[in-house]
Amino acid sequence: MRILIIGGAGYIGSQAVKSLINEGSEIVVLDSLVTGHKRAIDPKAKFYQGDIEDTFLVSQILRTEKIDAVMHFAAYSLVPESVKKPLKYYDNNVTGMISLLKAMNDAQVKYLVFSSSAATYGIPKKLPITEDTPLNPINPYGETKMMMEKIMHWADKADGIKSIALRYFNVAGAASDGSIGEDHAPETHLVPNILNSAISGDGKFTIFGNDYDTKDGTNVRDYVQVEDLIDAHILALRHLIKTNKSDVFNLGTAHGYSNLEILEAARKVTGIDIPYTMGPRRGGDPDSLVADSSKARTVLGWQPQHENVEEVIQTAWNWHKNHPEGYDD
Ligand code: UFG
Repeated sequence: MRILIIGGAGYIGSQAVKSLINEGSEIVVLDSLVTGHKRAIDPKAKFYQGDIEDTFLVSQILRTEKIDAVMHFAAYSLVPESVKKPLKYYDNNVTGMISLLKAMNDAQVKYLVFSSSAATYGIPKKLPITEDTPLNPINPYGETKMMMEKIMHWADKADGIKSIALRYFNVAGAASDGSIGEDHAPETHLVPNILNSAISGDGKFTIFGNDYDTKDGTNVRDYVQVEDLIDAHILALRHLIKTNKSDVFNLGTAHGYSNLEILEAARKVTGIDIPYTMGPRRGGDPDSLVADSSKARTVLGWQPQHENVEEVIQTAWNWHKNHPEGYDD
């Protein structure tokens, strides 16, 4: 099968490229390299540098490369940045999806696997969160993902483009062979920030708020390991082609960890007594996000290999300590 991976130079997209090549697919990558790294792309993939909003280019690639299905990882994804710069998010994320669906329709490519987010749920009334939980995002990022899902729904009705939206909880970790991992500039995510602080010894790691309605007052999140997450994409694409039916799945482990518990787990994994400061809340953070992932497990047959958060952090640590400056381009 020939798959176009848009955003294949990013943290999660590059893992998809690697895993899909390993299982025998032929991969074409489109990435703007605005946030991604060329070095992260498996050299066996064919690479085009360009933007998802360039409908003509996407349509040309779909046709000339004889693409069967698309995986879309190319969206801005930082919750706090989206609160500060909402228009950047609506512009890139929503416009990007419209452009992609136009190109797919033009080239008659009918299958799409899309990175959606737990941020679409907002502050759920009940945990764990099932796919039926009403979507009520509390930050612009989550709202763009909800809008993108809705656009996909109507593109299916009108044009028969079948899609699976995978609502990620918090993705962490790195490839187990240490080849690819997380490198954002600036870094804003919890696990890399803790590990970068462990490496630099700068003592600057801050937890954003301890007055949430959770077990210890800090936010609770559900951490899914990046290779496990991509395994679910491979299963989802097979399922989509087999059933020819659009659907949505949560991807999380169903275990919730507070920010303080993650810090403690990172101290154990690294053997370093990483200091921290308790700071004020950051904008846009829901108290707790924990997945009910039984639908992905039963319908797709997904079985995450790293259910224990220390194992997830261990894979991230292997990457960070060998790449303290991230990718070198
Ligand atoms: N946090 C800190 N200190 C830091 C960084 C983060 O305390 O230095 C806290 C945040 O306030 C939050 C938690 O750690 O409570 C997790 O924050 P991240 O920035 O790592 O991740 P988010 O939960 O904001 O968002 C991530 C992805 C989104 C996705 C979401 C789904 O970036 O794309 O998970 O839960 F939608």
